[in-house]
Amino acid sequence: MKHIIHYGRQEITKEDIESVSSVLKSDYITTGPVTKTFEKNFAEYIGSKYAVAVSNGTAALHLSAMALGVSKGDKVITSPLTFAASANCVLYCGGEISFVDIDPKSLGIDLNRVEDVLKKDSDNNIKGIIPVDFAGYPVNTEDIRSLADKYGLWILEDACHAPGASFTDSKGKQQQSGNGEFSDLSIFSFHPVKHITTGEGGMITGNNAEKINRIRRLRTHGITKDPDLLIQKDEGGWYYEMQELGYNYRITDFQCALGISQLKRADKSLKRRQEIANYYLDAFSDYDLIRMTNVPENINHAWHLFVIQIPKRRDLYNYLQEHGIYTQVHYIPVHLQPYYKNLGWNKGDFPIAEKYYEHCLSLPMYPSLKEEEQEYVIKKVKAFYG
Ligand SMILES: Cc1ncc(COP(=O)(O)O)c(C=O)c1O
Repeated sequence: MKHIIHYGRQEITKEDIESVSSVLKSDYITTGPVTKTFEKNFAEYIGSKYAVAVSNGTAALHLSAMALGVSKGDKVITSPLTFAASANCVLYCGGEISFVDIDPKSLGIDLNRVEDVLKKDSDNNIKGIIPVDFAGYPVNTEDIRSLADKYGLWILEDACHAPGASFTDSKGKQQQSGNGEFSDLSIFSFHPVKHITTGEGGMITGNNAEKINRIRRLRTHGITKDPDLLIQKDEGGWYYEMQELGYNYRITDFQCALGISQLKRADKSLKRRQEIANYYLDAFSDYDLIRMTNVPENINHAWHLFVIQIPKRRDLYNYLQEHGIYTQVHYIPVHLQPYYKNLGWNKGDFPIAEKYYEHCLSLPMYPSLKEEEQEYVIKKVKAFYG
């Protein structure tokens, strides 16, 4: 069988398997003590006070949007260059999306354009912003906070691509993506291509106990058993209350056992991603045709994706695939999806994101990518351009 190199993939070690199987042999397999430990360890890693684990990143976005109060008539700003879930979560709550074009350098949302949109929002319909740490490039949440405070917005950071990323703030302090220093809530995904996987899974991080408690309740049907939070009289040991309409977005303890084990090598894996990125950056530095992300000094990039922007993208994609290299495109701008077009968005609305989409390609990037595999990818890209 032909050896295939994918753009991203999970790494499962013997320790990971042992960690999962020990939970499978225990009494408790759904959300229980291991989930609590994973939440605690993840919060420590990210630098937030609290973390709540859920069934996937989309559920994390949905519950966060609910906890931030998104409701009918509300508008929320996000980038068109993201996975659809960053925008969909607002629609789940009856709100509307206000897309704002990207900054061509960081590929994150352009804050100058955000402010232009806010200035025009005379009815104050815009309630929040969902910035995305695209490809692992951390958004500067300190700058977003200044803007959010000026216009009375909340911030929900979609940090799915960026566990371990950080930027240096105006006081010279390292601010890790998702630590909640400047954002109200942040979310992560543990899909297999992400830095840490639980098969499917997600996490909400933040520093506000009230919002986090609400998310915990919403994760399991809006039900609580916490004696301190009951509305009616406690009727006995069995008693629980459904206090609002929630969902079943629980994660299992055996998934969290995988998360705990993966988290132990998060630093090592991040270093390996940075090593791979530096190798690509160096290898293609002489190629004017190949545009790559320039990482400024104050940015510690988490390299979920290694994106190049090139001419003849479709031909290169096919050529690499013929040679066993399965690249990917991140992303088709969300506003160009048929569903969003039906809501009124059109081609031409966000020219920078659209132009980027015409030329982008994500090359293989994952910690277990072997040196010779990366060499082969580089050789083939160079061979294509001659
Ligand atoms: C930026 C971004 N947001 C949200 C999600 C949704 O996460 P999940 O697939 O775990 O639901 C993803 C994952 O694909 C993502 O990349």
